[in-house]
Amino acid sequence: MMLEIDGIGVSFGGVRALRGVSFSAAAKDITSVVGPNGAGKTTLFNIVTGFQRAEAGTVAFDGKSVTGWRPNRIAVAGLVRTFQKTEVFGGLTVARAVEIGTTCGRPFPLWRTLVPGATKRAREEAEHEAALVLAQCGLSDRADQPCVALSYGEQRLLEVALALAARPRMILLDEPASGLNPTEARQLGELIARLRDDGIGIVLIEHNMQLVMRISDRIVVLHHGEKIAEGKPDAIQKDARVIDAYLGGGIRA
Ligand SMILES: Nc1ncnc2c1ncn2[C@@H]1O[C@H](COP(=O)(O)OP(=O)(O)OP(=O)(O)O)[C@@H](O)[C@H]1O
Ligand SMILES: [Mg+2]
Repeated sequence: MMLEIDGIGVSFGGVRALRGVSFSAAAKDITSVVGPNGAGKTTLFNIVTGFQRAEAGTVAFDGKSVTGWRPNRIAVAGLVRTFQKTEVFGGLTVARAVEIGTTCGRPFPLWRTLVPGATKRAREEAEHEAALVLAQCGLSDRADQPCVALSYGEQRLLEVALALAARPRMILLDEPASGLNPTEARQLGELIARLRDDGIGIVLIEHNMQLVMRISDRIVVLHHGEKIAEGKPDAIQKDARVIDAYLGGGIRA
């Protein structure tokens, strides 16, 4: 499996945020991680992508241990995340922000500035790649707008675009649909499913159960820092422990 998480545990001041969490995610799948608020979902992403250290457990990506690696090194290896909170992009244009994203992890050594045309070529390549990513995300017609002019829903798409700009092999999305209206959430779901079909592995944290049930290949359920269920959407929906975890309300598609 492309991502293998094994026995992850961490606590914050006596509160166990995660305990013995293990699961794998395949490159061909959308693997969703769900669970009530405070279940430990974001903490798990932080650990997997190197933003936080685990007290126990290992993370392997593409057959190699990435346990303890720094975020940038993990991103360069092809495992890229988005954040739960929307970031502020400032006055850059949408195209420029994504162009900068395409250069992440690809240093342009100083000596290359001496090669005739190299700087211009690198810039053109970045522009070309950014245009492809924006088309993929349905943001082409917003390319020349400043990022701050985007609607909230478009900003969330831009976050996915920025993650894609780094040419990931797998993306970890932390609540990408939060705050989106139903139409925007459906469009986002279609984009995520297309990325999966293009061979980019997806691990998705999301509270929008309609979206999760529609697009997930597998679902992992966390509750109080532990994995309480794992399986296909229809089995998860009927799982008694999962229904209990959601306070008897169940999860409805
Ligand atoms: N840096 C921290 N310091 C102390 N406690 C933390 C820290 N980060 C997370 N926690 C605690 O760890 C638990 C898991 O939090 P986490 O943010 O991972 O949950 P979550 O599943 O992402 O929730 P949500 O659905 O609300 O985003 C919570 O009890 C939270 O209060
Ligand atoms: Mg969270």
